Amino acid sequence: MAENTGDRYAVARTALSRIPHGVAIIGAADGAERSCATGTAMYVSFVPPMVVIAEHPGSRTCRLIQRSGGFSVSFLHASQQDVAERAGKSAEGPDKFATLRIKPLEAPPDAGGAPAVAGSMAVLWCVVRDSRETGDHVLITGEVKAHEIDETKIDALLRFRRRYAHIGHVTSEESPEGYPT
Ligand SMILES: Cc1cc2nc3c(=O)[nH]c(=O)nc-3n(C[C@H](O)[C@H](O)[C@H](O)COP(=O)(O)O)c2cc1C
Repeated sequence: MAENTGDRYAVARTALSRIPHGVAIIGAADGAERSCATGTAMYVSFVPPMVVIAEHPGSRTCRLIQRSGGFSVSFLHASQQDVAERAGKSAEGPDKFATLRIKPLEAPPDAGGAPAVAGSMAVLWCVVRDSRETGDHVLITGEVKAHEIDETKIDALLRFRRRYAHIGHVTSEESPEGYPT
């Protein structure tokens, strides 16, 4: 463990930052108010398909998810680092997509209603199934109701060691059977 230097984020900076993550944009909307925030997601169930996100309760995106009961997860391609950098800060105006000039991808019917990011590698549209305070974040589990995959984009944008990175190279063939992911 790092010494207690009075920096309450010390363990997050040193240890949690060593967990490699795909960078995602979490989208949410309630009427005309729309937001998107840089974040990440992991899967927790295959049947039904479910993912979990951890949102800070002070973020607008978190409030919009709680009000609307839906969110989108747009996994970014390596070419979209600028989107991650811009969405990782709060923005003025009712529609953060419009303020940041991020082109939205509208949700299909019955998929929670959250806007996603056009041009992403993969998009999941979710409805909230569980929400619980966990430490300083809210852990939100969503059931995936719709998805859109761009099969031509495989070089994921990653976050690792407090830096952005690219996925590198593939070291096996696609598994023919067994674990589904
Ligand atoms: C690489 C990266 C990852 C982030 N991951 C998360 C996260 O998982 N949960 C979260 O609440 N905020 C995360 N943030 C911070 C939010 O993106 C940031 O607070 C954003 O300004 C929230 O915007 P909003 O208030 O419009 O929702 C991350 C930021 C960056 C740059």
